[in-house]
Amino acid sequence: MASLWGGRFEKEMDEIVKVFNASIGFDQRMYNEDIDGSIAHVTMLAAQGIVTKEESGKIIEGLETIREKIRSGEITFNVEDEDIHMGIESRLIAEIGDVGKKLHTARSRNDQCQVDGRMYLKKEIGEILDRLYYLEEVILEKAEKYADCLTVGFTHIQHAQPITLGFVFMAYFQMFKRDIERLHDTYHRMNLCPLGAGALAGTTLPIDRHKTAKLLGFAAPTENAMDSVSDRDYSIEFLSDASISMMHLSRWAEEFVWWNSQEFSFIDIDDSYCTGSSIMPQKKNPDMAELLRGKVGRVYGDLMQLLTVMKGTPLAYNKDFQEDKESLFDAVDTWKASITIFANMLEKTEFRLDQIEAQMAKGFLNATDIAEHFVKQNIPFREAHEIVGRMVKVCEVNGCQLEDLTDEQLSEIDGRISKKSLGDISIKACVDARISFGGTAPSEVRRQIAAGRAFLESLK
Ligand code: ARG
Repeated sequence: MASLWGGRFEKEMDEIVKVFNASIGFDQRMYNEDIDGSIAHVTMLAAQGIVTKEESGKIIEGLETIREKIRSGEITFNVEDEDIHMGIESRLIAEIGDVGKKLHTARSRNDQCQVDGRMYLKKEIGEILDRLYYLEEVILEKAEKYADCLTVGFTHIQHAQPITLGFVFMAYFQMFKRDIERLHDTYHRMNLCPLGAGALAGTTLPIDRHKTAKLLGFAAPTENAMDSVSDRDYSIEFLSDASISMMHLSRWAEEFVWWNSQEFSFIDIDDSYCTGSSIMPQKKNPDMAELLRGKVGRVYGDLMQLLTVMKGTPLAYNKDFQEDKESLFDAVDTWKASITIFANMLEKTEFRLDQIEAQMAKGFLNATDIAEHFVKQNIPFREAHEIVGRMVKVCEVNGCQLEDLTDEQLSEIDGRISKKSLGDISIKACVDARISFGGTAPSEVRRQIAAGRAFLESLK
């Protein structure tokens, strides 16, 4: 099959060049966007008198026929098509005859692949946002359910301070909230239409780029034609958003792996989200959490790949840019699947409150709270810290808890303290009193949940 650009050539492309050159293997994913872009383009051409209404009618009808044939599998593509833009254009000409040759007036594949890419990504961002909203809903539900439940707060994977389980959920809520905000941001910045930029410099024909932008649901046309065909910032921003969000998922996935271990036994992941071992009959492994942790690597790779492709490329279009798609598609697929897998796994996970409670006795979780009690009795914090440190030492020697120390032991540590001056240092009392804004007290977690709900509401 002769290429649509074959006029000045005397030889056909070498067979291995055809394969190396073609993007049809992956850019056919955007056939709907390509057809939508063409319909908007020819509608504009007719409105501007560049083609007749009758011609545009035939072209649109032909494009819809092609769309249906691709959808039904009647049309399949191969390397002869080179890319989705020429694949569709050549089928159109075969379908409706010479009038189809008018479609490519005042546009180039350089702007076409960009309008396709932006429309594709806008659609996928919508999908990803829906999945993130769902994840946030699951988190809010769990946070509410466990708002009063106590658990161990760690730093350095060492027992640090007592917290509520709802508080942990709301910490992750914040991460995904920022992911949502970032994605909205990316969406708004990329919501400009490159169609009509042409190869790089616009056109002498009286096109109306504002019209095509509007028809395709963009806020406006892009400002500069040369930038329009060589900009891949929107994909890089998306890949950065994806990388950060995947990093968040991998952090929680890592906690799931720990929490699910025999040593922690904080959670029981549903059987349907675990796998077994082919040799050890007793095993139930948290494979989904581990895979999520692993998947982040490929998304970082996708980001690095595109950053590297774009580095040092001169204006305007270069064929290097064709390498912008596979990594983008991979990140879209990976991120989407990861969010849903994680949300479902979280929803189905049971928290083993008895096991968690058993761990609360270890690690002197209320030590900081005792120091704060002393501060309220006018002991400077640095001294209070020192006193509690000595109390911990005595407890370690005697194998007891801070609340078990006798008046005698306490006054020996420091003349200013007694059992009475410790106040209520039960774990529950300590947590309930952490009502500072953003703190872990159930009342404060409930405020955070309400704010989280309001955030999600504001996006609807
Ligand atoms: N398949 C190409 C891409 O994805 C389309 C643009 C090709 N333009 C060109 N002049 N070779 O980047």
